Order: sequence, then structure tokens, then C-alpha cells
Amino acid sequence: MVNNQIAVIVLAAGLGTRMKSSHPKVMHPLAGRPMILHLLDTVSALAPERVAVVVGPGMAAVEQAVAPIPTVVQADRLGTGHAVRQAAGLLAGFEGTVLVLYGDTPLITGDTLGRILAAMRQAPRPAVVVLGFRPDDPGEYGRLVTGPEGLRAIVEFKEASADQRAIGLCNSGVMAVDGTRLADLLGRVTNANAKGEYYLTDIVGLACADGAACGFVEGAADELLGINSRAELAVAEAVAQDRLRARAMAEGATLLDPSTVYFSWDTRLGRDVTVAPHVVFEPGVTVGDGVEIRAFSHLAGASVAAGAQIGPFARLRPGAVIGDGAHVGNFVEIKKSQLGAGAKVNHLTYVGDASIGAGANIGAGTITCNYDGFVKSATEIGAGAFIGSNTSLVAPVKVGDGAVIGAGSVITKDVAPGALAVARGTQMELPGWADRFRARKLAEKNGGKKD
Ligand code: UD1
Ligand code: CA
Repeated sequence: MVNNQIAVIVLAAGLGTRMKSSHPKVMHPLAGRPMILHLLDTVSALAPERVAVVVGPGMAAVEQAVAPIPTVVQADRLGTGHAVRQAAGLLAGFEGTVLVLYGDTPLITGDTLGRILAAMRQAPRPAVVVLGFRPDDPGEYGRLVTGPEGLRAIVEFKEASADQRAIGLCNSGVMAVDGTRLADLLGRVTNANAKGEYYLTDIVGLACADGAACGFVEGAADELLGINSRAELAVAEAVAQDRLRARAMAEGATLLDPSTVYFSWDTRLGRDVTVAPHVVFEPGVTVGDGVEIRAFSHLAGASVAAGAQIGPFARLRPGAVIGDGAHVGNFVEIKKSQLGAGAKVNHLTYVGDASIGAGANIGAGTITCNYDGFVKSATEIGAGAFIGSNTSLVAPVKVGDGAVIGAGSVITKDVAPGALAVARGTQMELPGWADRFRARKLAEKNGGKKD
């Protein structure tokens, strides 16, 4: 009986020199998180028995990011075959299918992996199934040499003849291998080739020479894009964004101009959400049903309850919790604060470390002065309170339910529920003063002469 267990080895020891970066290549983000975590999510959906990531020396950042998935260090980068061999300990006694993936090819889908695994379950059991693809420009990819019986060999570009280089079917790098054969095949791979590396790809020719069957399936080029440079990272980001836009729309959100909306991997939008052009969702945003997010708004780590209106030009920072039907208008920044149901903060306001009760109205230009240069302090505003325009609330401070604050106040003391507080200079008026002032100034300017 075929053993249907799965082990996954992700190769990520490459330095990614062409990224010109001080971070390992696989840590560069796509849609707001390291590319390797996208791949590991796809992998975990297969419920594999064993998973390991092969990293290079000094890649503690990768080790931390992928934890608790174990890593093995490939001390010398001697080729893809050598890299897989580093995981031998993890694969000891494993008789299922070993799936080899590349950390820098994170856009592969679960469907495609499923097709490879299905091909592995065919009789006679293949030794290897390779995922091929047909890129617009086959460039220096390895080429799949096929025959009527299936896959015969993979030839690396450097070793390929002119005829072989003319083959359009390329090696994506993704490969499934019969776990009972892998160690033996890898043990016979040598580095007698143009690059002096142990090529994983050589196991196909070796298995065929043993009389074993080898196969291939074809995948879509946009899934198999390898990220080696910043330019390729940008192309991959575009693919990831398109997928997230499609998902949001499939789940019932309207995007007025999808290509201008930027999502994070974990953005969650409810049904009947409308997102206007030029909105950015950084990680950690959840939006309830029927919310309207107007143009040029920027949301990070925020949750927005059903029926709320955000923007245009609103900024929700981490910890912003916007209640049902609340309004956050233009040039309003909200950080680590709760806005109660139906509350309104419509214009030119900063709310930080605050809680605002249901139905409160925060006037234009209100500032919670939450930071004294040393510590952050909280502001509490009760339900139904009315904060007049251009109020400064010097935290820590509380405004009780239903209280009214006169415009232009600097509030430094707690205000009782239902009270009016006004803290500003008292208005005075001198009748006729302006006319006398102008007359005197004009006289001075004319050197005492009359007009
Ligand atoms: C490899 C394939 C080639 C395929 C291409 C697809 C081999 C010999 N060639 O070529 O057929 O068309 O990928 O992108 O496999 N890595 C390690 N340790 C190593 C070497 C590589 O972990 O010692 C990792 C890299 O980090 C990378 C992946 O393996 O994630 C591929 O390595 P790379 O050197 O880019 O292989 P290619 O020459 O592109
Ligand atoms: Ca590569």
C-alpha cells in the first residue's frame, strides 16, 4: 500500500545576493509578512507529517520567524541536492512523499501542490514528480526533458545543449520524491558539473536509469515566480495583491477601483463593505459588514464594527476599535482608542489612548494630549458627551456622560456628567475701539498731516 504521508523540505539557505539587502531573502515581506510564511501557510494546509526549513548560517531571523517549524543549517551552500541532504535527520525512516519547495517561490497554491501529490499516488508509484511551467522567457531555468513515458531528466541551463535550451517546459524547482528512494538517490548525486554543485535535479536522471517512473505536472507561471531581486519582489507583490483583491470581492466587498487598494495577508472585510480608491490596509485590520471606507484612508491593526464610516483621509492606527455605526472623518487619526457605537469624530482630530462613549460627538480640531514627553496617559469621554471644536484634553482626564465642553477649551480637570466646562480666556468687548485705533494709526502714518 502506498504511504500517503507528506514531509516538506523548504530550501531557504540562499543569501539572495541580488536583493542587495542585510536581511535574508525569504524575510522580505509580501502583503505585510515574510514571504516564507506565505509558503508555510500553504504547506500547513496539506497537514504534513513533518516539515523542515533549510537555512544558511546566521539566519536567526528566519529561524525565529518560522518557529516552531524546525530549521536545519546548511553550513556550506553546495547546491540544492546538498541542501535537501541536510534534512536527512528529519526524513529518517520516512516512507511517504517528500515535497521540496523553495522559500523564494512563495506564490504556489495548495491546488497545485495537490495536483503534484495526486500524480505521486498513481501506479506505478513514481520516484519523482516535478512541477514544470512555461515562462514567457525560459532564461536560465533548468529544462524538463520528457518522453512518452513521462519525465526523463532535468538539464540545468549551463549543461543544456542548444536543442535542450529550446525546450519551453522549465523546472519550477518544486519536486515530490518517493521517501523510500530519496536518500539513496541523493547519495549518488555528484558535483561534477558546470557550477560544481550537487544538483537536486540530477535525481530524475538517476531514478529513470534505475527503471523507476518519473512524471511532471504543469503549473501557472505567475504561481512559480522566483523572487531574486527587488524588481521580482514587486512583481510578486502585485500577484499577491491581485489575489487579495479577488478574495475580498469574492467575500462580498465592493472595491471601486481594486488596483488602488492595498491589502495585507490577514485583512478581513465583511459583506457589503465599500472600499473607495487609494485605501491601504496594513496588517491586523478587521472590518465589519456594511462599513464604508472612503478614499485615501490608511488602516493598521484596527477593528471597525458594522455600519461605520471611515474617511476620506482617515488614519486608524493599531488598537483603534471603532464601534457600530461610528463615523471617523477627514484628517482624523485614532490610536489605541475605543470609539463607541454611533460616536462621531469627523474632522481634523487626534484621539490617542482614549475611550469615547456611545453617541459622543468630538468637534473639529480636538486633540487628546496623551503624551507629556515621558509617559502616555488616558482620556475617558462618556456616552453622549459633546466636545466643542478645538478642545485640548490634557490626559489623564475624564469627561462624564452627557457633559458639554465649550469650544477652544484646554481641559485639565475631570468634568462631571451632565456639566458644562469651559476653559478659555473670557471674551471682552470695547465699543468703538477699532474705529479709534484705525484713525490714530492713519494719522501717525501721514506724519500728522490731514488727508
Ligand atoms: C534551481 C534548479 C533549476 C530550476 C530553478 C527554479 C537546481 C540544480 N536547479 O536553479 O532547475 O529551474 O531552481 O528557480 O536545483 N538553495 C539552498 N542551498 C543551496 C542552493 C540553493 O538552500 O546550496 C536554495 C536557494 O535558497 C533557493 C533554491 O534553493 O531557494 C534554489 O536555488 P538557486 O541557486 O536559486 O537555484 P537555481 O540556480 O535558480
Ligand atoms: Ca533561483
